[in-house]
Amino acid sequence: MMGPVLAACLLIILSTAWISQANEALCKKDGGVCSCNNNKNSVDCSSKRLTAIPSNIPADTKKLDLNYNKLSSLSAKAFHNLKELTYLNLDTNQLQALPIGVFDQLVNLTDLRLNRNQLTSLPSGIFDKLTKLTDLRLSGNKLQSLPHGVFDKLTLLEKLYLYNNQLRKVPEGIFDSLSSLSTLRLNDNPWDCSCKDILYLRDWIDDNKDKVTGAQDAACGDQQSKAVLEITEKDAASDCVSPNTTTAIPIGTMTPASVIYDDIHEIKVPQENFQKFLGYQEPDHLPTQPQCLMSISGYLGLMMSLMLTSAAILYVFHFLKKA
Ligand SMILES: *[C@@H]1O[C@H](CO)[C@@H](O)[C@H](O)[C@H]1NC(C)=O
Ligand SMILES: *[C@@H]1O[C@H](CO)[C@@H](O)[C@H](O)[C@H]1NC(C)=O
Repeated sequence: MMGPVLAACLLIILSTAWISQANEALCKKDGGVCSCNNNKNSVDCSSKRLTAIPSNIPADTKKLDLNYNKLSSLSAKAFHNLKELTYLNLDTNQLQALPIGVFDQLVNLTDLRLNRNQLTSLPSGIFDKLTKLTDLRLSGNKLQSLPHGVFDKLTLLEKLYLYNNQLRKVPEGIFDSLSSLSTLRLNDNPWDCSCKDILYLRDWIDDNKDKVTGAQDAACGDQQSKAVLEITEKDAASDCVSPNTTTAIPIGTMTPASVIYDDIHEIKVPQENFQKFLGYQEPDHLPTQPQCLMSISGYLGLMMSLMLTSAAILYVFHFLKKA
């Protein structure tokens, strides 16, 4: 009677041990601060208070998480040894700008996440080599403008997030090459609906409303009272030649958002304690290989004692039942 139950318990215990061991094939390659799942070619460096990208990230990495760190700038060559990346997450950092060509080697990238940084502009051509991109997220930045043709090479793009920025207009034709697009989020931008150049956006939203979801939510100005889709030629009568259009935004008004994200960093204390428990003292400094190995063996030791204890308890129960 007890046979199947015991077998099931043993299976659960063994698989737990196997999973933890698989996870602990980690850290070694990159010097310790990130978790590496070698089977999946994925490296997780999220929530580590990093101010720089760790060196020694394996060249065959396909998925790289760098979200929830403190990256404020990237070197132009930051990803030049990571040509096989298909997924790159840089959400919730403090990037104010991107260097020209920073993504140019990432020809197989399908997902790029840059949500909740401090970007005010993008270099022109920044995504031109990312021809396999299907998902591009730029929400929660301070983008005031987009370069002409910046999405022109992204013919496979399905999802584009631009919501919660400071966009007042887009260059004419900017979405015209996005033939695979199914989701475009433009809400929470102060679209300037008094200028003639908003008519491109209005017409594009109208022309694509059966194919693309989300874009209809774009609304005018700080009040967001009227949908871009509903504006008339009469509303948008002004010529608005720059610099007239670019003078109106006081940049200082955006700071509350960044304060909120800093708070999020501070709230994530448990993770940090856990790192300390594992032997990482100062996440900003990469632990050395021996430190990393020591923390792994400590963890494995803990798992072993848990396993032995459970096995002993099960064993005792088994014989108590029989007796
Ligand atoms: C990109 O993906 C293709 C197809 O999977 C592969 O043949 C090629 O080697 C990859 N390129 C790089 C730079 O990894
Ligand atoms: C904006 O442009 C108009 C003409 O189009 C001009 O009369 C006005 O002075 C300009 N305003 C500013 C602030 O430059």
